[in-house]
Amino acid sequence: MIRFQDVCKSYPDGTEAVRDFTLEAPTGKTTVLVGSSGCGKTTLLRMVNRMVDPTSGAVWIDDENVADVPPVPLRRRIGYVMQNAGLLPHRKVIDNIATVPLLNGVPKAQAHARAAELMELVGLEARQANRYPDQLSGGQQQRVGVARGLAADPNILLMDEPFGAVDPLVRADLQAELLRIQRELEKTIVFVTHDIAEALALGDQIVILAKGARIAQAGTPQQVVAEPADDFVADFLGLGRGTLDLHLRETPTGTLVVDGHGRPAGRLVEPG
Ligand SMILES: Nc1ncnc2c1ncn2[C@@H]1O[C@H](COP(=O)(O)OP(=O)(O)O)[C@@H](O)[C@H]1O
Ligand SMILES: [Mg+2]
Repeated sequence: MIRFQDVCKSYPDGTEAVRDFTLEAPTGKTTVLVGSSGCGKTTLLRMVNRMVDPTSGAVWIDDENVADVPPVPLRRRIGYVMQNAGLLPHRKVIDNIATVPLLNGVPKAQAHARAAELMELVGLEARQANRYPDQLSGGQQQRVGVARGLAADPNILLMDEPFGAVDPLVRADLQAELLRIQRELEKTIVFVTHDIAEALALGDQIVILAKGARIAQAGTPQQVVAEPADDFVADFLGLGRGTLDLHLRETPTGTLVVDGHGRPAGRLVEPG
Protein backbone atom coordinates (compact mmCIF):
# COMPACT_ATOMS: atom_id res chain seq x y z
CA MET A 1 0.00 0.00 0.00
CA ILE A 2 1.13 3.53 -0.79
CA ARG A 3 -0.28 6.28 1.40
CA PHE A 4 -0.01 10.00 0.75
CA GLN A 5 -0.64 11.78 4.06
CA ASP A 6 -1.41 15.54 3.98
CA VAL A 7 1.21 16.05 1.30
CA CYS A 8 2.06 19.53 0.04
CA LYS A 9 4.62 20.60 -2.54
CA SER A 10 5.63 24.16 -3.31
CA TYR A 11 8.43 24.66 -5.81
CA PRO A 12 11.12 27.27 -5.06
CA ASP A 13 9.51 29.75 -7.50
CA GLY A 14 6.36 29.70 -5.33
CA THR A 15 4.25 27.35 -7.48
CA GLU A 16 1.93 25.38 -5.21
CA ALA A 17 1.84 22.15 -7.22
CA VAL A 18 0.20 19.97 -4.55
CA ARG A 19 -1.90 21.15 -1.64
CA ASP A 20 -2.91 18.85 1.21
CA PHE A 21 -3.22 15.61 -0.71
CA THR A 22 -4.25 12.45 1.11
CA LEU A 23 -4.84 9.14 -0.66
CA GLU A 24 -4.28 5.43 -0.30
CA ALA A 25 -3.24 3.32 -3.31
CA PRO A 26 -4.05 -0.27 -2.35
CA THR A 27 -1.56 -3.10 -2.75
CA GLY A 28 -1.88 -5.13 -5.93
CA LYS A 29 -4.31 -2.67 -7.54
CA THR A 30 -4.05 0.01 -10.21
CA THR A 31 -4.71 3.57 -9.04
CA VAL A 32 -5.02 6.08 -11.86
CA LEU A 33 -4.42 9.79 -11.23
CA VAL A 34 -6.20 11.67 -13.98
CA GLY A 35 -6.32 15.41 -14.58
CA SER A 36 -5.39 18.22 -16.92
CA SER A 37 -1.84 19.28 -17.61
CA GLY A 38 -0.25 21.11 -14.69
CA CYS A 39 -2.58 19.78 -11.99
CA GLY A 40 0.26 18.08 -10.10
CA LYS A 41 0.19 14.46 -11.31
CA THR A 42 3.90 14.10 -12.04
CA THR A 43 4.79 15.84 -8.79
CA LEU A 44 2.66 13.33 -6.85
CA LEU A 45 4.14 10.33 -8.66
CA ARG A 46 7.71 11.49 -8.10
CA MET A 47 7.11 11.87 -4.37
CA VAL A 48 6.80 8.09 -4.16
CA ASN A 49 10.35 7.45 -5.39
CA ARG A 50 11.76 10.70 -3.95
CA MET A 51 12.55 12.35 -7.24
CA VAL A 52 10.54 15.09 -5.48
CA ASP A 53 10.42 15.52 -1.70
CA PRO A 54 7.21 16.97 -0.25
CA THR A 55 7.36 20.41 1.40
CA SER A 56 5.22 18.94 4.18
CA GLY A 57 3.34 15.73 4.82
CA ALA A 58 4.64 12.24 4.13
CA VAL A 59 4.44 9.35 1.71
CA TRP A 60 4.32 5.88 3.18
CA ILE A 61 4.98 2.51 1.59
CA ASP A 62 3.33 0.07 3.97
CA ASP A 63 4.74 1.09 7.36
CA GLU A 64 7.81 2.85 5.98
CA ASN A 65 8.07 6.61 5.52
CA VAL A 66 9.91 7.04 2.19
CA ALA A 67 11.74 10.06 3.69
CA ASP A 68 13.63 7.51 5.83
CA VAL A 69 14.83 5.53 2.81
CA PRO A 70 17.80 6.82 0.80
CA PRO A 71 16.67 7.72 -2.75
CA VAL A 72 18.98 5.40 -4.69
CA PRO A 73 18.00 2.08 -3.05
CA LEU A 74 14.38 3.30 -2.99
CA ARG A 75 14.39 3.90 -6.78
CA ARG A 76 15.97 0.55 -7.44
CA ARG A 77 12.99 -1.21 -5.91
CA ILE A 78 10.30 0.91 -7.53
CA GLY A 79 9.62 0.61 -11.25
CA TYR A 80 9.26 3.90 -13.12
CA VAL A 81 7.97 4.25 -16.67
CA MET A 82 8.13 7.65 -18.35
CA GLN A 83 6.09 9.15 -21.18
CA ASN A 84 8.85 9.00 -23.80
CA ALA A 85 9.92 5.56 -22.51
CA GLY A 86 13.18 7.27 -21.39
CA LEU A 87 15.36 4.68 -23.09
CA LEU A 88 19.12 5.04 -23.36
CA PRO A 89 19.67 5.58 -27.10
CA HIS A 90 23.12 4.00 -27.30
CA ARG A 91 22.21 0.80 -25.51
CA LYS A 92 20.51 -2.21 -27.04
CA VAL A 93 16.96 -3.11 -26.05
CA ILE A 94 18.14 -6.00 -23.90
CA ASP A 95 20.59 -3.75 -22.01
CA ASN A 96 17.99 -1.03 -21.56
CA ILE A 97 15.67 -3.55 -19.93
CA ALA A 98 18.45 -5.01 -17.77
CA THR A 99 19.70 -1.60 -16.53
CA VAL A 100 18.37 -1.72 -12.98
CA PRO A 101 19.12 -5.42 -12.26
CA LEU A 102 22.70 -4.80 -13.46
CA LEU A 103 22.94 -1.78 -11.13
CA ASN A 104 21.61 -4.01 -8.37
CA GLY A 105 24.54 -6.39 -8.97
CA VAL A 106 22.69 -9.18 -10.77
CA PRO A 107 25.20 -11.06 -12.99
CA LYS A 108 24.91 -10.10 -16.67
CA ALA A 109 23.83 -13.53 -17.96
CA GLN A 110 21.07 -13.72 -15.37
CA ALA A 111 19.96 -10.11 -16.00
CA HIS A 112 19.77 -10.80 -19.74
CA ALA A 113 17.80 -14.02 -19.24
CA ARG A 114 15.32 -12.10 -17.11
CA ALA A 115 15.16 -9.30 -19.71
CA ALA A 116 14.38 -11.88 -22.40
CA GLU A 117 11.49 -13.22 -20.30
CA LEU A 118 10.17 -9.69 -19.84
CA MET A 119 10.36 -9.03 -23.57
CA GLU A 120 8.03 -11.95 -24.09
CA LEU A 121 5.75 -10.77 -21.28
CA VAL A 122 5.29 -7.32 -22.86
CA GLY A 123 4.85 -8.68 -26.37
CA LEU A 124 8.25 -7.99 -27.93
CA GLU A 125 9.95 -10.47 -30.22
CA ALA A 126 13.25 -12.05 -29.21
CA ARG A 127 14.99 -10.78 -32.36
CA GLN A 128 14.38 -7.19 -31.20
CA ALA A 129 16.74 -7.69 -28.24
CA ASN A 130 19.81 -6.48 -30.10
CA ARG A 131 18.21 -3.47 -31.75
CA TYR A 132 18.68 0.09 -30.59
CA PRO A 133 15.66 2.12 -29.43
CA ASP A 134 15.49 4.23 -32.63
CA GLN A 135 15.11 1.01 -34.63
CA LEU A 136 11.78 0.33 -32.93
CA SER A 137 8.34 1.88 -33.42
CA GLY A 138 6.94 4.20 -30.75
CA GLY A 139 4.69 1.44 -29.42
CA GLN A 140 7.58 -1.02 -29.23
CA GLN A 141 9.67 1.54 -27.36
CA GLN A 142 6.87 1.93 -24.83
CA ARG A 143 6.84 -1.86 -24.36
CA VAL A 144 10.57 -1.73 -23.68
CA GLY A 145 9.88 1.02 -21.13
CA VAL A 146 7.31 -1.16 -19.37
CA ALA A 147 9.68 -4.16 -19.42
CA ARG A 148 12.42 -2.02 -17.93
CA GLY A 149 10.07 -0.80 -15.21
CA LEU A 150 9.35 -4.42 -14.30
CA ALA A 151 12.92 -5.69 -14.57
CA ALA A 152 13.88 -5.53 -10.91
CA ASP A 153 10.57 -7.23 -10.06
CA PRO A 154 9.40 -4.24 -8.01
CA ASN A 155 6.21 -4.44 -5.97
CA ILE A 156 5.43 -0.90 -7.07
CA LEU A 157 5.23 0.42 -10.61
CA LEU A 158 4.90 4.17 -11.27
CA MET A 159 3.76 5.04 -14.79
CA ASP A 160 3.74 8.68 -15.96
CA GLU A 161 1.61 9.01 -19.11
CA PRO A 162 3.47 5.99 -20.50
CA PHE A 163 1.28 5.63 -23.58
CA GLY A 164 0.82 9.33 -24.30
CA ALA A 165 3.10 9.52 -27.32
CA VAL A 166 1.63 6.75 -29.49
CA ASP A 167 -1.34 6.68 -31.85
CA PRO A 168 -4.77 5.59 -30.56
CA LEU A 169 -4.74 2.02 -31.95
CA VAL A 170 -1.30 1.24 -30.57
CA ARG A 171 -2.36 2.89 -27.35
CA ALA A 172 -5.39 0.61 -27.03
CA ASP A 173 -3.07 -2.35 -27.63
CA LEU A 174 -0.67 -1.24 -24.91
CA GLN A 175 -3.55 -0.70 -22.48
CA ALA A 176 -4.84 -4.21 -23.15
CA GLU A 177 -1.35 -5.63 -22.61
CA LEU A 178 -0.99 -3.76 -19.35
CA LEU A 179 -4.31 -5.15 -18.12
CA ARG A 180 -3.18 -8.66 -19.03
CA ILE A 181 0.20 -8.21 -17.35
CA GLN A 182 -1.41 -6.74 -14.25
CA ARG A 183 -3.83 -9.68 -13.95
CA GLU A 184 -0.77 -11.91 -13.88
CA LEU A 185 1.59 -9.85 -11.70
CA GLU A 186 -0.74 -7.87 -9.38
CA LYS A 187 1.67 -4.98 -8.83
CA THR A 188 0.75 -1.86 -6.91
CA ILE A 189 0.51 0.52 -9.86
CA VAL A 190 0.12 4.28 -9.79
CA PHE A 191 -0.66 5.35 -13.34
CA VAL A 192 -0.85 8.99 -14.44
CA THR A 193 -2.81 10.16 -17.48
CA HIS A 194 -4.74 13.19 -18.73
CA ASP A 195 -7.04 10.87 -20.71
CA ILE A 196 -10.25 9.99 -18.89
CA ALA A 197 -11.00 7.05 -21.22
CA GLU A 198 -7.59 5.57 -20.40
CA ALA A 199 -8.24 6.10 -16.69
CA LEU A 200 -11.60 4.32 -16.90
CA ALA A 201 -10.04 1.48 -18.87
CA LEU A 202 -7.14 0.80 -16.52
CA GLY A 203 -8.05 1.89 -13.01
CA ASP A 204 -9.29 -0.23 -10.15
CA GLN A 205 -9.44 3.16 -8.45
CA ILE A 206 -9.47 6.43 -10.34
CA VAL A 207 -8.70 9.79 -8.79
CA ILE A 208 -9.85 12.86 -10.70
CA LEU A 209 -7.64 15.82 -9.90
CA ALA A 210 -8.15 19.55 -10.19
CA LYS A 211 -5.43 22.20 -9.90
CA GLY A 212 -3.12 21.80 -6.92
CA ALA A 213 -3.91 18.07 -6.99
CA ARG A 214 -7.23 18.72 -5.30
CA ILE A 215 -9.19 15.45 -5.37
CA ALA A 216 -12.41 16.19 -7.20
CA GLN A 217 -13.50 12.55 -6.88
CA ALA A 218 -11.98 9.17 -6.11
CA GLY A 219 -13.69 5.85 -6.65
CA THR A 220 -14.09 2.94 -9.01
CA PRO A 221 -14.68 3.84 -12.66
CA GLN A 222 -18.25 2.64 -12.18
CA GLN A 223 -18.84 4.94 -9.20
CA VAL A 224 -17.36 7.98 -10.90
CA VAL A 225 -19.29 7.51 -14.14
CA ALA A 226 -22.55 6.61 -12.41
CA GLU A 227 -22.36 9.41 -9.84
CA PRO A 228 -20.03 12.28 -10.72
CA ALA A 229 -19.39 14.25 -7.51
CA ASP A 230 -19.90 17.68 -9.08
CA ASP A 231 -19.96 19.68 -12.31
CA PHE A 232 -16.17 19.63 -12.55
CA VAL A 233 -16.16 15.83 -12.66
CA ALA A 234 -19.15 15.67 -15.00
CA ASP A 235 -17.38 18.12 -17.29
CA PHE A 236 -14.17 16.11 -17.15
CA LEU A 237 -16.08 12.99 -18.12
CA GLY A 238 -17.58 14.99 -20.97
CA LEU A 239 -21.05 14.16 -19.70
CA GLY A 240 -23.81 15.99 -21.49
CA ARG A 241 -21.44 17.74 -23.86
CA GLY A 242 -21.83 15.63 -26.97
CA THR A 243 -18.50 14.42 -28.25
CA LEU A 244 -17.10 12.36 -25.39
CA ASP A 245 -20.24 11.83 -23.30
CA LEU A 246 -18.97 8.62 -21.71
CA HIS A 247 -21.51 6.31 -20.16
CA LEU A 248 -21.99 2.67 -19.24
CA ARG A 249 -23.84 0.17 -21.38
CA GLU A 250 -24.80 -3.27 -20.13
CA THR A 251 -24.19 -6.01 -22.71
CA PRO A 252 -24.63 -9.78 -22.49
CA THR A 253 -20.87 -10.15 -21.94
CA GLY A 254 -20.35 -7.33 -19.44
CA THR A 255 -20.38 -3.58 -18.97
CA LEU A 256 -18.92 -1.33 -21.65
CA VAL A 257 -17.90 2.30 -21.51
CA VAL A 258 -19.26 3.92 -24.66
CA ASP A 259 -19.21 7.47 -25.98
CA GLY A 260 -22.05 9.64 -27.20
CA HIS A 261 -22.00 7.87 -30.55
CA GLY A 262 -22.24 4.45 -28.92
CA ARG A 263 -18.63 3.66 -29.77
CA PRO A 264 -16.67 1.72 -27.16
CA ALA A 265 -14.46 4.14 -25.26
CA GLY A 266 -12.88 1.77 -22.76
CA ARG A 267 -13.14 -1.37 -20.79
CA LEU A 268 -14.21 -1.67 -17.18
CA VAL A 269 -12.07 -3.56 -14.73
CA GLU A 270 -14.10 -5.28 -12.05
CA PRO A 271 -13.08 -4.02 -8.61
CA GLY A 272 -11.69 -6.50 -6.11
N1 LIG B 1 10.62 21.91 -10.97
C1 LIG B 1 9.56 22.74 -10.96
N2 LIG B 1 9.72 24.05 -10.64
C2 LIG B 1 8.68 24.90 -10.61
N3 LIG B 1 7.42 24.55 -10.92
C3 LIG B 1 7.20 23.26 -11.26
C4 LIG B 1 8.25 22.29 -11.32
N4 LIG B 1 7.72 21.10 -11.70
C5 LIG B 1 6.41 21.33 -11.87
N5 LIG B 1 6.09 22.61 -11.61
C6 LIG B 1 4.75 23.24 -11.65
O1 LIG B 1 3.93 22.53 -10.74
C7 LIG B 1 2.63 22.35 -11.28
C8 LIG B 1 2.33 20.85 -11.37
O2 LIG B 1 3.23 20.26 -12.31
P1 LIG B 1 3.20 18.70 -12.66
O3 LIG B 1 3.25 17.93 -11.40
O4 LIG B 1 4.28 18.47 -13.64
O5 LIG B 1 1.76 18.55 -13.32
P2 LIG B 1 1.18 17.46 -14.34
O6 LIG B 1 2.09 16.27 -14.33
O7 LIG B 1 -0.18 17.19 -13.83
O8 LIG B 1 1.15 18.14 -15.68
C9 LIG B 1 2.62 23.05 -12.61
O9 LIG B 1 2.14 24.35 -12.41
C10 LIG B 1 4.07 23.09 -13.00
O10 LIG B 1 4.37 24.18 -13.85
MG1 LIG C 1 3.12 15.35 -15.87
